[in-house]
Amino acid sequence: MIQKDITDLKIGVLGGGQLGRMMIQSAINYNLDISILDPDPHAPCAHLVENFQVGKLTDSNLVYEWGKQFDLITIEIENVSTEALKKLSSEGVSVFPQPEIIELIQDKRKQKEFYRSNNIPTANFVLTEGKDDVLKHIDRLPAVNKLGKEGYDGRGVQIIRDEGDLDKAFDKPGLLESLVDFEKELSVIVARNERGESKCFPVVELSFHPVHNLVEFLFAPAQVSSSIEEKAYQVAVDVIEKLDLIGLLAVEMFLTKDGQILVNEVAPRTHNSGHQTIEANLTSQFEQHIRAILNLPLGSTLATSPSAMVNLLGEDGFTGNAKYEGLKNCMAMEGVYVHLYGKKQTKPFRKMGHITILDSEIERLKEKAREIKQQLKVKA
Ligand SMILES: Nc1ncnc2c1ncn2[C@@H]1O[C@H](COP(=O)(O)OP(=O)(O)OP(=O)(O)O)[C@@H](O)[C@H]1O
Ligand SMILES: [Mg+2]
Repeated sequence: MIQKDITDLKIGVLGGGQLGRMMIQSAINYNLDISILDPDPHAPCAHLVENFQVGKLTDSNLVYEWGKQFDLITIEIENVSTEALKKLSSEGVSVFPQPEIIELIQDKRKQKEFYRSNNIPTANFVLTEGKDDVLKHIDRLPAVNKLGKEGYDGRGVQIIRDEGDLDKAFDKPGLLESLVDFEKELSVIVARNERGESKCFPVVELSFHPVHNLVEFLFAPAQVSSSIEEKAYQVAVDVIEKLDLIGLLAVEMFLTKDGQILVNEVAPRTHNSGHQTIEANLTSQFEQHIRAILNLPLGSTLATSPSAMVNLLGEDGFTGNAKYEGLKNCMAMEGVYVHLYGKKQTKPFRKMGHITILDSEIERLKEKAREIKQQLKVKA
């Protein structure tokens, strides 16, 4: 454990996207010294910190050389060189979340095997080495075929309904999972510090774009019974404790029609399903992440209002310099908070920003979220 005063610590963050950007906003309140590494010189964090270095996050030598200057390293994306992080950690740099856990989570196959061997409820699956292997499991259809590595935002996930779909199956190591006929998709973000204190944010419910697999709307708190809510917290705490993770863990879950909670996947960092906590909770997920990795007391996760979050995605058919349509109309509504990520270029379905809406009236909250979704467009 680090003994220095928190303002004297040199902290490195791998990744300079919107999650890093919102983390910096929280870090400023504690006057923390943050440096960023990202491959894109125009990343959302560029120019926000004095030490912004351009470099590939999966380049082991580069990450190792960059990382040596820090007391503490964290991530805002999991696709990073864990080889470098393990070496840095063995040489005394604190790395949270721990590199071994990042490595486990990078591979959906290892992640699912971890759930199975630790009695964490999850959909049934078999590992597959390639397309030929998928073809052997016709009896499991309909199923979901997932790439082991490097799938994100739904890009490594395909639904194989019947034999006719088999032709499109990925031809790389992956897994074939039962198609869950879920009632809802839920998410719980849980934080844990070095002294083993853990705290959950209120459970949220997500609705995804039917084709592009990106979160379209989020509502917090989720409209579920208190026993389901309790079950979701138990599962989230169980996963973070079994992983022995220090930091933040977003646990994506399915609520099945017969009231079971199944873990879909986890992310060991701040997450799209926690953006509304900036305005709607006493502590935001970004501040909580900082508190957890610095072994500070975790903040209260109490929600001060029901909230909704709408991702602001690049409009289909537009690529180029981003222009925001309908922003002023949305800002004229009560309880509407705009976050733009500072990405100059838009392209179809790129995450360009998000909007948080607070309203004590649930129906009005949903109505505002739908209206914002209709009015606000990112075009070029
Ligand atoms: N077994 C399943 N049954 C039904 N739907 C599923 C299943 N697995 C995944 N999905 C659907 O596909 C979406 C994306 O899957 P998953 O979260 O595993 O992929 P991902 O690419 O890592 O996504 P993201 O980066 O957006 O979190 C899920 O949110 C869910 O809507
Ligand atoms: Mg997911």
